[in-house]
Amino acid sequence: MALMASPLTLRSGTTLQNRVVKAAMEEQLAGAGQQPDERIERLYRRWGTGGAGLVITGHVMVDRRALAQPGDIVLDKASDLAAFRRWASAAGATPVWMQINHPGRVVLRDTGGLALAPSATRVDLGALSSLYPTPKPMTKADIDEVIEQFATTAFLAQKAGFAGVEIHAAHGYLLSQFLSPLVNRRDDEWGGPLQNRARLLLRIIDVVHARVGPGFGIAVKLNSADFQRGGFDIDDAERVIEWLRDRVDFVELSGGSVEALATSGYTADDRTLEREAYFLDLAGRLADKAAVPLMLTGGIRRGEIAKRVLDRGFALVGVATALAQDPELPQRWLAGEDAAVAPPRSVIRSKIVRAAAVQAAITGRLHAIGCGKDSPTRPPTLALVIDRRRRSLQLARYRRDSAGTSVTA
Ligand SMILES: Cc1cc2nc3c(=O)[nH]c(=O)nc-3n(C[C@H](O)[C@H](O)[C@H](O)COP(=O)(O)O)c2cc1C
Repeated sequence: MALMASPLTLRSGTTLQNRVVKAAMEEQLAGAGQQPDERIERLYRRWGTGGAGLVITGHVMVDRRALAQPGDIVLDKASDLAAFRRWASAAGATPVWMQINHPGRVVLRDTGGLALAPSATRVDLGALSSLYPTPKPMTKADIDEVIEQFATTAFLAQKAGFAGVEIHAAHGYLLSQFLSPLVNRRDDEWGGPLQNRARLLLRIIDVVHARVGPGFGIAVKLNSADFQRGGFDIDDAERVIEWLRDRVDFVELSGGSVEALATSGYTADDRTLEREAYFLDLAGRLADKAAVPLMLTGGIRRGEIAKRVLDRGFALVGVATALAQDPELPQRWLAGEDAAVAPPRSVIRSKIVRAAAVQAAITGRLHAIGCGKDSPTRPPTLALVIDRRRRSLQLARYRRDSAGTSVTA
């Protein structure tokens, strides 16, 4: 485990004490006003002592009119920074980076939120597509506003004491929508060739750099592939990584989107994924060439597998699900134990519902830790029922709070 335990000094000057990173998990723990509260502090205290070299938060939204879920936390000019300060310091000496995100078109219709996208292409989920509105194609003014929102959130994150930000450009959210030739049908400077489709991501990074002080980390989460025919693919990822090399501390590689749930092991183009470290084969070739540290996330639940990812040339291993189930796993790996956790399993037939149920089981586990309980992960079907109830309460509060905000249908 020598490599896993070795420190890594990043471009911005931060030194991570080891190579295991707690990857982003949307906690859906927002209290009133979409603010963090003591539940999130309790959760991050636990990860702070769990042994990871870096903890990345679940996505924090840059625009309160556009949430992926009504329990999402928002950091904008209206936020109470004191609550974010308590969150940033909860993990003690372990650095915490805030993942910042705009969902773009992935705004569920029932939130009444503002669904924006590069083009008016609606999320395609077959019979469930009507859960999402047709998004408003973004004007130049919308694009400028989103750039400003990311810069403001990054600036406020630094002010609150977070050590860095990870810009979410994966999983089919706004920046990934711009990168995708299937979603981005624009014929202006923001669409067409890859340089144009990557322009928004690169512009945001440059503006964030200009806005934050020295020593503040900046990373990007990028898809190694969208796993959709004709979508953003591994060759595109390779080129984008090349453009990111002088701009960021590291690039986290993931894959898939709400339309192609690769992170739950299923892809829209039916490519078979390895059960563990399932992006390793595909993304491994990027590790050979990249001039920027790469982090690989997805299906890493065992010390041996984490070691294999590092041996393959990745600088960091990202772990999400397994660190919800066992927050102390990194400590045990670093001590040389090949400790493992089994992911929650479900026999629900529909891929989408099954993925939602497994996600609900993990979210439920985060909520349990946040509430000071150490109850084990619930069976996914039961977790889904409980999750729906919790979500409807958060939805009612969000809709009440945002009454009067202008939105698209
Ligand atoms: C409950 C849950 C919430 C998630 N929320 C986010 C998120 O906010 N941002 C993100 O980039 N990925 C998110 N993910 C994806 C994970 O970061 C990771 O890419 C994926 O789960 C695969 O890694 P794993 O097998 O270690 O879980 C989430 C995953 C889960 C299970």
